[in-house]
Amino acid sequence: MNSLPEKIKKYRQLFNDLASKIKDKKDLEELRQAFLGRKKGYLTLLFEELKHLSPEEKKAAGSILNNFKEEVQASLSKLEQKYPMPRAEKTLFDLTLPGRKTYWGAPHPLTLFQRKIEKIFISMGFSVEEGPEIETDYYNFEALNFPPYHPARDSWDTLYINDKLLLRTHTSPVQIRVMEKKKPPIRIIIPGKVFRRETSDPTHLPMFHQVEGLVVDQGITFAHLKGTLEYFIKALFGEKIKLRFRPSFFPFTEPSAEVDIECIACHGKNSQCRVCGGTGWKEILGAGLVDPQVFKNVNIDPEKYSGWAFGLGIDRTAMLAYEIPEIRYFYENDLRFLRQFIRR
Ligand code: DAH
Repeated sequence: MNSLPEKIKKYRQLFNDLASKIKDKKDLEELRQAFLGRKKGYLTLLFEELKHLSPEEKKAAGSILNNFKEEVQASLSKLEQKYPMPRAEKTLFDLTLPGRKTYWGAPHPLTLFQRKIEKIFISMGFSVEEGPEIETDYYNFEALNFPPYHPARDSWDTLYINDKLLLRTHTSPVQIRVMEKKKPPIRIIIPGKVFRRETSDPTHLPMFHQVEGLVVDQGITFAHLKGTLEYFIKALFGEKIKLRFRPSFFPFTEPSAEVDIECIACHGKNSQCRVCGGTGWKEILGAGLVDPQVFKNVNIDPEKYSGWAFGLGIDRTAMLAYEIPEIRYFYENDLRFLRQFIRR
């Protein structure tokens, strides 16, 4: 085996030979890699061989090797003046570039609010169900006791896809889908997107969110509806919140009610209030006892079972809870808005 000094001699020859043949900066870079490459450069390998020598040999060979390395570096930098490297190739990082900002994400306020609602109902033994956003007329209207051409359909400005399909105008059709599959007792909530033909303004958009609730069992009365909704609203807005039940009409409930909460902006003290229009109240949900005809449509015996249901607008309730004056803020994707809700 050649001794280290002999090898160095051989490599010096090789280096000089290759260096004399360099034509461009690519050859130069290859030569640099061949000799100074961090893993497999000849010099790197030669330095590794030092390890196997005795201390005296190491001293002598080490100094020759160091000289050789200096020679290589010197002649490479001379050659570099002849074939200069462009900046980008020379350095891995461009330290003059500005740093990258990392944006912290946050759950969307509507997601946060929906989770809050789900948590309250889950704590009362409800489970969470979902259903399709594209619906048939049957589930969106007919099974919910809206006969064809019934004037009550006009209250839901429907976006039709074709004669048979539409974008659901409320989450109520999922009541039917669940009751077709499950037998009572049923205790569910159904959050989701709903669609209506609306022109956008500070309180309306063609897409928004609702959460539906449905309880079916033997012996269910309006008292259960009132008690559960009162507990829910107090859990959401605090014990002191005032609420009221107002008689109303929905084809799928009988009797029906709407629930208002006191205006959080003025507490009924400002006749000019822009949130409640001076009434002191804000409607947040519709509810009622499930109409016997709806039970018949899903083969549940209305003589044996009764139930109650509700549908709440998530966006508008979140607007009240977080004091947001514009429903459109939810959908503008402005991070300054979206990041404000995480700690609430
Ligand atoms: N679906 C109704 C709406 O979109 C809200 C509603 C009212 C849902 C009464 C219900 C209910 O389940 O019982 O306006």
